[in-house]
Amino acid sequence: MTTTNAAPAAAPGEQARVLTLRVNGIEQRGIAGPGTTLLEFLREELGLTGSKRGCDLGECGCCSVLVDGRPMLSCLLLAADVAGSEITTIEGIARGETLHPLQQAMVDEGAIQCGFCTPAMVINGVDLFNRTASPSRDEIKACVSATVCRCTGYNRIEQAFVTTAERLSGKGGAR
Ligand code: FES
Ligand code: FES
Repeated sequence: MTTTNAAPAAAPGEQARVLTLRVNGIEQRGIAGPGTTLLEFLREELGLTGSKRGCDLGECGCCSVLVDGRPMLSCLLLAADVAGSEITTIEGIARGETLHPLQQAMVDEGAIQCGFCTPAMVINGVDLFNRTASPSRDEIKACVSATVCRCTGYNRIEQAFVTTAERLSGKGGAR
């Protein structure tokens, strides 16, 4: 997990401005100062509150989103720095009423308690399953460990990943 410091604060005298980001396939506008993080912009300007503010320090992973298809910690990114990138949040993962297979498996396996970590678990999992339909146990554990869960003890979450792998690959489970 990335553990660098939080995004730098605005320099004195720098002004907020209208910023357009492409989020979940739609050009969306909001106000961003020079120190506005992507997490702040998503939650406070666009109302996309699925990405969670946990530590705000790059430690917990709960703010993960996809930037050009790869998981990134939105609390560490400046919103202005990802203009021109394709941002995907948890709100953009399901297709209408149809959940992503990992979302469905999280429900089926009872892998959600308070749900605070769930969006980031899914975001990281979507990246994993985009790269392979049958991840190994080690790959699943590495993916899940990128996000802190305070509730479940991880077993049910890992089982949801295994179930997803079974359903996607039809091979009877993770290696
Ligand atoms: S809120 Fe971004 S890593 Fe914790
Ligand atoms: S389900 Fe509560 S933090 Fe993971």
